Amino acid sequence: MSNEYQLNLFEQLNQGLPASSPSFPPELIPTDAKIPIPPGTYGTIEELADHCHQCQRCGLGSTRTRAVVGRGNSQAAIMAIGEAPGQNEDETGLPFVGKAGQLLDKILASVRLDPEQDIYICNINKCRPPQNRVPTPEEIAACKPYLLEQIRLVEPKIILLIGATAVRGLLGDRRGITKIRGQWLEWQGYLCMPIFHPAYLLRNPSREKGSPKWLMWQDIKAVRAKFDEIGW
Ligand code: URA
Repeated sequence: MSNEYQLNLFEQLNQGLPASSPSFPPELIPTDAKIPIPPGTYGTIEELADHCHQCQRCGLGSTRTRAVVGRGNSQAAIMAIGEAPGQNEDETGLPFVGKAGQLLDKILASVRLDPEQDIYICNINKCRPPQNRVPTPEEIAACKPYLLEQIRLVEPKIILLIGATAVRGLLGDRRGITKIRGQWLEWQGYLCMPIFHPAYLLRNPSREKGSPKWLMWQDIKAVRAKFDEIGW
């Protein structure tokens, strides 16, 4: 399909269907990742999810079992963004439900943040990369319009960036997570906090002062304090 043809189709998609349309005919989805998905395309997370489930903007579309869009409260003050689905997530269609996800939920609960109520959890990439490899820059770019639309729709007060790929994928910042974690960064008016990925903590179980787990505890307490400060 030529790019021009897809762009025309996409204009039809934007203009021809009511905002509340529950699904998008697959033939109208721009399959070429070079075709933009403009801000304001989706009226709801459900519409966006519908599109993701049919998406073929990169090669991961043909290897996924399910696209993994998000879980939690889509009106939450905190949005947590990870890297990409793993096997459990690919099978269930929900982000962070494997071992790393269970640890993430515990970390949030340790500062009385309820993953169902206080957080919306999603990933940079909606589809699982084979063998859980890191998504390529092309895959990240192909999926980014969905992430930007999620941020626009959720309008969080705080964005937790879980691991280096999340930092790179959203901010384009290539600094290592050990350097950047625990610092508030501003991105397009949003307050962002980079934190370690829980999978890294599973590989580094020490709780000693200065260890990754101890640092995570400091960071999540800072997030809780900011959450209280903004009076949510
Ligand atoms: N790791 C991630 O980054 N995201 C998930 O959804 C699961 C594991």
